[in-house]
Amino acid sequence: MDIAIRNVQILDGNGGEPYPADVGIVEGRIAAIGTVGAATTEVDGAGAYLAPGFIDTHAHDDGAFFRHPGMQFKLAQGVTTVVSGNCGFSAIPADPDQDAAKNSGGILAGLEGEFTDLAGYFDAALKRKPAINNMMLVGHNTVRAQVMGMEKRKPTSAELVAMRGHVSRALEQGACGFSTGLIYRPGRYSDTEEVIEIAAAAKDFDALYTTHMRNEGDRLLEAVDETLAIGLANDLHVHISHHKSAGKPNWGKVGASLEKVDAALAAGQRVTLDVYPYTAGSGRMIEYFNLDSPSVEFAEVIRIASCPAFREFEGRMLVDIAKDRGIDLADAVRLILTAPGGDKTICIHFIIDEADIETNLAHADMMVGSDGIPDLRGRPHPRLFGTFPRILGRYVRERGVLSLPEAVRRMTSLSAKTFGMVERGQIKEGFWADLVLFDAQAIADLATYDEPKQEPAGIALVVVNGEIALQQGEHKNVGRGKMLRYRQSAHAEG
Ligand code: ZN
Ligand code: CU
Repeated sequence: MDIAIRNVQILDGNGGEPYPADVGIVEGRIAAIGTVGAATTEVDGAGAYLAPGFIDTHAHDDGAFFRHPGMQFKLAQGVTTVVSGNCGFSAIPADPDQDAAKNSGGILAGLEGEFTDLAGYFDAALKRKPAINNMMLVGHNTVRAQVMGMEKRKPTSAELVAMRGHVSRALEQGACGFSTGLIYRPGRYSDTEEVIEIAAAAKDFDALYTTHMRNEGDRLLEAVDETLAIGLANDLHVHISHHKSAGKPNWGKVGASLEKVDAALAAGQRVTLDVYPYTAGSGRMIEYFNLDSPSVEFAEVIRIASCPAFREFEGRMLVDIAKDRGIDLADAVRLILTAPGGDKTICIHFIIDEADIETNLAHADMMVGSDGIPDLRGRPHPRLFGTFPRILGRYVRERGVLSLPEAVRRMTSLSAKTFGMVERGQIKEGFWADLVLFDAQAIADLATYDEPKQEPAGIALVVVNGEIALQQGEHKNVGRGKMLRYRQSAHAEG
């Protein structure tokens, strides 16, 4: 054996009760479970749980694999695989003659010119020796911006063909699905019919349709209807991203939304969802405001995460900034967003009810996605560093919203099956050795809104593709991550 991890309680990812065993690893894969012979590297895991590495189904790490190939903020959580390209923004396709950074919603900044398609992206990302695995979606906003710019109109039939072509090409090269972000530009200029027409490309691959829905607040239920219709029209598996009901008047509506999902499931439609375990969202501030009449209600719940124009605003509530400057909230919004680089400002907005998070987590088809934005300047949303330990510490141990084996299932096998990750997401002989060893009593997120860049407690060991990537807080920088292809072996598998 290359590695033996001994005396652990195994949570195999399928939701059953844990059982004691040793695990042996040979050439990247799980080779033995039970009694395991001598190994080159011995790890004593006495008292701890060994689970499959966690899968972050909602990531925006397309560019992070280049800027931060060590992926410390994910690896330290026990995350061994992410799904990138969410909310309609993806690193691919990229056109060297266009502002690829803009088309990708800022994900790509600085990486232009290294690749144009998914195969090129995979090669370029692997050269950086990433610490964890990556699966990709191809995004509607990116594709639409490349074909139509920021045009506020229906596509011509030639443009539709071009957009569908980009999506097909990415799926051919191993993307797991087509993502939309219908709240953002230019996706919000599309109608349902356009999305159905482009999503049709996913049919040939039986790939996913994942969506940041058109509305997560007043019109949440209508947005769920639209999402289900898009899936039904093409017979696609639909995955609803970061399910929530935003804004106080809408709190509690996730119940009605989940009833719609349950009705669709009962009728035979394939639907899954994910959630992040925090009461605040986060994104590019410019997307949430109309500069002519900024919503004061929304401005009141905003905190600045990163702000190139005013670094001193980072970590502060907008109301406090406005008070200090002696200006009203609308002017504070304009001050930030119209400054040079203002469009790069990332904000955090407190819009979600705690009770809705628990309602979400109680649903059997609910996975966990961080939605972390890997901009390490300023004070990012703590979900970037804390999501998975927070599920196990707060929602399993403290609140008892779901059991430990069930939480692990939702963060491993369910995600791997849904997103087409072959031989991952379970502790099973022959599967890739993506593993996390943790103390169920000690596991906790330490990242807060004030101090967000803190790695969690209680994780003893993380193994990625059979190599120890993190041990007792030390990042080993072995760079064993792979680029994954939907329902296929990994890209450039050695
Ligand atoms: Zn989103
Ligand atoms: Cu997102």
